This record gives sequence, structure tokens and C-alpha cells, in this order.
Amino acid sequence: MSPLKGKNAIITGGGRGLGKATALAFAKEGINVAITGRNEERLKQTVEELTALGVKATYAVFDVVDKPAVHTEIAKVIDFLGGIDILVNNAGISEFGKFVDMPADRWEEILLTNVMGVYNVTREVLPHLIQQNEGDIFNVASTAGLNGNPTTSAYSASKFAVIGLSESLMKEVRKNNIRVCTLTPSTIASDMSIELGLTDGNPDHILQPEDFAELLVATLKLPRRAMLKTASLWTTNPV
Ligand SMILES: NC(=O)c1ccc[n+]([C@@H]2O[C@H](COP(=O)([O-])OP(=O)(O)OC[C@H]3O[C@@H](n4cnc5c(N)ncnc54)[C@H](OP(=O)(O)O)[C@@H]3O)[C@@H](O)[C@H]2O)c1
Repeated sequence: MSPLKGKNAIITGGGRGLGKATALAFAKEGINVAITGRNEERLKQTVEELTALGVKATYAVFDVVDKPAVHTEIAKVIDFLGGIDILVNNAGISEFGKFVDMPADRWEEILLTNVMGVYNVTREVLPHLIQQNEGDIFNVASTAGLNGNPTTSAYSASKFAVIGLSESLMKEVRKNNIRVCTLTPSTIASDMSIELGLTDGNPDHILQPEDFAELLVATLKLPRRAMLKTASLWTTNPV
């Protein structure tokens, strides 16, 4: 039996891409899962797939930038699950454009979603983990949070910020037996990266969302005395 069976997880942005793959991988380990996002249809469909794997599953519809909605909905899903052990801060948006070309509102939206989204959700979940003196948080940054490049100013600024937030939090709460892991994956064939034209998604040449999910499951299975601080998942031999 999986050592993770019966744990409870929240995954933001769980209706598609890396978040959905993670939700399915968690459910296969017997982890009960709540997924969140703005597109109710996709969330509903994913919850059906999760429930079919034999775990408790639910969804909540909210924008991670909307603090009051985050407060209300996170409380509801924790109540439904009967507690919380794992948070995956995965929801995020990406768009590339020259500094002077990207509209200021869009630049700000990328920052708010990717940074304040992580803050808002963590703010609601963390007190529960501190109270039970155990937990796991994954913050999904990107290789774009390690290096800036032409046209990535908004996305890179947001992901650099996620890395700073995440490392600080890790150092603050490891005393509470909470493992905070910062992930900086390279391109993975998700809906987002295919829509952006970053990859054709060919599984022979490019990381798949399931590979990302496998890393999270393996990380959770480490003995509790051990934690993965950061991880960059790369495609072995991209074409
Ligand atoms: N794919 C890659 O190559 C790659 C590489 C490195 C890092 N990442 C990071 O990995 C994470 C997942 O990316 P992905 O490729 O799986 O993208 P994706 O397919 O576009 O999925 C992103 C998810 O985030 C949710 N989301 C976006 N904005 C939101 C908001 N304001 N409020 C609530 N939910 C929101 C979306 O749900 P709704 O549409 O339902 O709101 C969606 O489920 C992101 O943080 C991304 O930056 C991706």
C-alpha cells in the first residue's frame, strides 16, 4: 500500500496541464484531492476521473488573485477533505512579449496571478500545516525564474519572485516539519506550452506532464527527515 494513501492535497490549476497530471498521479497513490481553477467544466471532468480512481475528490472555482474567494473556497475544500497535508501551488499564466509591446495591464496580471496567487493560497493553507506540525508545499516556478531572456520580463519577474518567496518560506517552516519544495521545470508538453508554440508536444522529444507528476510523488515518498529543496526537471535529449 502506498505510504501516501489517505493524505489530502490541494492542487491549484488542477483542471489541465501539469496540475491535472499531478492530481491523477496523487489519486493513483490514494491521496484525496481538491483541484481549483476558473474553468468549471474542466474541473468537473477531472474530478470525475479522480473519483473513478477511488479517492475523495472535489473542486473549487476561484481566481487565485481574488483573496476573499480564496479564503472562502480553501476553507470549504479543507472541510470536505477533512484536513490538509499537501499543497501544490501550480496555477499560473505565461505570455511572452517585448518589454514595450506587452500591455502594462497584462504585465501586471502575470505578476499578480503567478506571485499573489501563490501567496493567497499558501496564506490560507499554511496555518493548518503549522498546527499539525507536518506538511508539504510545492511551488511551481520555472527555468524562467532562474534566468531572464528577451521577451520573458513579466514571466521571469513573476517566477524569480516565486523562488524568493518559496526559499524564504522553506527556511521559516522547516522547524514545523513542513517541507517546501521549489520546482523550476524546463518546457513540458502541457496545454500552455503547446498553445504558446514552445513545443509540438511529441513525447519522444519533450517532457510530459506525467513526468512532472512522478517527480512530486517520488519527492513525497522521501523519508520525512529528507526534503527536496529545489528541482529542475529537464528533457534529456530535446530535438
Ligand atoms: N508547461 C511548461 O512548459 C512549464 C514549464 C515551467 C513551469 N511551468 C509552470 O507550471 C504551472 C502549470 O503550467 P501548465 O503548463 O500546466 O499550464 P496550463 O496548462 O495553462 O495550466 C495552468 C492552470 O492554472 C490555472 N490558472 C491560471 N490562471 C489562474 C487564475 N488566475 N486563477 C486560478 N487558476 C488559474 C488554469 O486553470 P483555469 O484555466 O481553469 O483557471 C490551469 O489549470 C504554471 O505555473 C507554469 O508557469 C510550466
